[in-house]
Amino acid sequence: MAKLLIEGGVPLVGRVPIGGSKNSALAVITAATLASSGTVILDNVAPVSDVRDMCAILTALGADVRWAGPTTLEIFAGGVNHPVAPYHLARKLRGSTYIVGALLARLGEADVAFPGGCQIGSRPIDFHIRGFQALGADVALERGSIRARARRLRGARFYVERASVGTTVNMMIAGSLAEGTTILENAAMEPEIVDLANFLNAMGARVRGAGTNLVRIDGVDRLSGVRHEIIPDRIEAGTYLMAGAITRGSVEVTRVIPEHFRTVLLKLEQAGAVIEETDDAVRLTMPGRPRAVDIETLPHPGFPTDLHPPVVAVLSLADGVSVVQETVFDNRFAYTHELARMGANVKVDRDAAIVRGVEQLTGAPVEAQDLRGGVALVLAGLAAAGETEVNGLEHVDRGYVGLAEKLQALGARVRRVDAA
Ligand code: EPU
Repeated sequence: MAKLLIEGGVPLVGRVPIGGSKNSALAVITAATLASSGTVILDNVAPVSDVRDMCAILTALGADVRWAGPTTLEIFAGGVNHPVAPYHLARKLRGSTYIVGALLARLGEADVAFPGGCQIGSRPIDFHIRGFQALGADVALERGSIRARARRLRGARFYVERASVGTTVNMMIAGSLAEGTTILENAAMEPEIVDLANFLNAMGARVRGAGTNLVRIDGVDRLSGVRHEIIPDRIEAGTYLMAGAITRGSVEVTRVIPEHFRTVLLKLEQAGAVIEETDDAVRLTMPGRPRAVDIETLPHPGFPTDLHPPVVAVLSLADGVSVVQETVFDNRFAYTHELARMGANVKVDRDAAIVRGVEQLTGAPVEAQDLRGGVALVLAGLAAAGETEVNGLEHVDRGYVGLAEKLQALGARVRRVDAA
C-alpha cells in the first residue's frame, strides 16, 4: 500500500515531460504478439503498472519481453504458443481483453480471464464477444474466463456499438490476420487507435481509415517485427495542465501532440486559463480563480472521460456552478465522496456532477478508488490548505509514472510513502 502526502497551496511552476500513452501501449504491446518473426522494438513506453502487467501476460504466452532501456521494450513473439493468459494477471486490467483477439488471430484459440480494470461502471465485454463471433469464432464464457476458438478468423462487416475503443482495438488486431476484409462501422476515433493502425501497418498489416469512424482491414497471412514509437499520453498531459490550473500556477507539458487534446485546451481556456502552444508543447497559466464551465464527456474528439475527475477537482474551486456530464461510463463518481471530505461541494444527479465552486479546499486523509478519481484527489490536495494524504496510490500507479517526482519538479511539496 502506498500513499502520497501533500502539503498544499503552492502554485506549480515549471515544465514537465510527458510519457508515452498507457492505452496506446497496451494495444500495441498486445498487437506485437501477432509478429511470428522478427523483434518488435517499442520506444516511449511508460512503465506504468498496467503496462508491466501486460508484459507479464505476454511472457506467460511464450513471448520474450525485455526492457532495453527505461522506456524501450523489446518483444520477440516468435515463440508464442500458449493460449492461456494467467488468471491473476488478466483479471487485473481491462486491456487483457485484447489478448483474446491476438491469440485467436495467432493461435486460433484463447482462454483469458474476465478483465479487471478500474471500477467505473459495469464495463461489460459483450461488444468484443459479438465482434469475435462476427469473425467466425466460437466464444464461451466459462469459469470466469472467455474461451474462444476459430480455425482461421474470417473478415466481416461489423458495427461497433457506442464507438467502443476496446472493441475497435480488438477487431483491428484480430482482423489483421483474418482471411479477407473486415469493415468496422462506427469505429472509435481516438488517437490511440491511429497509433495502433500505424504500428500494425508497419508490421505488414493493411489497415485503412483509422481515425475516422470507418476502418477497413484487409487480412494478411503474417506480420513481422518493427520499431515503433508510442504516441504521448494525452491524459497525462491534461492532468499536469490541470495541476497548473488548480494551483493557479504556470505549467508547461512537453513532448506532447496538442491536437490530441484540443477539446481539453478549449475547456481550460473557457475556465480562464491562458494557453500557449508550440508543435510539441503546451503552457497553461491560470491567472486567478477558475471560472465555472459545463462539460460533457464524449468519445474522441470530445472531452475525454478520463479527464472528468481531474477537471471536476479544478472546477470545485471555480467561481460559479459547473455541470460535468458523464456519457461514457455509467458510474465514475466514487471520487466525489472523497472530494467532499476536502470541502468540495459536488452533487451527483444521475450522469452529471453538479459542482458548486468553493473558495478553498482543506487537506484531509482520502482514499483513491480508481486511477483517474485518485489523481483528481491528488490535484485537489495540491490546492488545498494543509496536509492531504491520498491513500490507495497503487490505483494511480496504473497510469502515472514518477508522479511524486514530476510534481516535486514543479515545486509541489509532496512525498510518497510506500509501506514496507
Ligand atoms: N461497453 C459495453 N460493452 C463492451 C465494451 C464497452 O457496454 O463490450 C461500453 C462501456 O461500458 C462504456 C462504453 O461502451 O460505457 C465505451 O467503452 P470503451 O469500450 O470505449 O472503453 P474501454 O475500451 O473499456 C478505454 C480505455 C479507458 C477509457 C475508454 C474511453 C483502455 C485500456 N482503456 O476503455 O481508459 O476511459 O477507452 O476512452 O484503453 C483509463 O485509462 O483510465 C481508462 C479507463
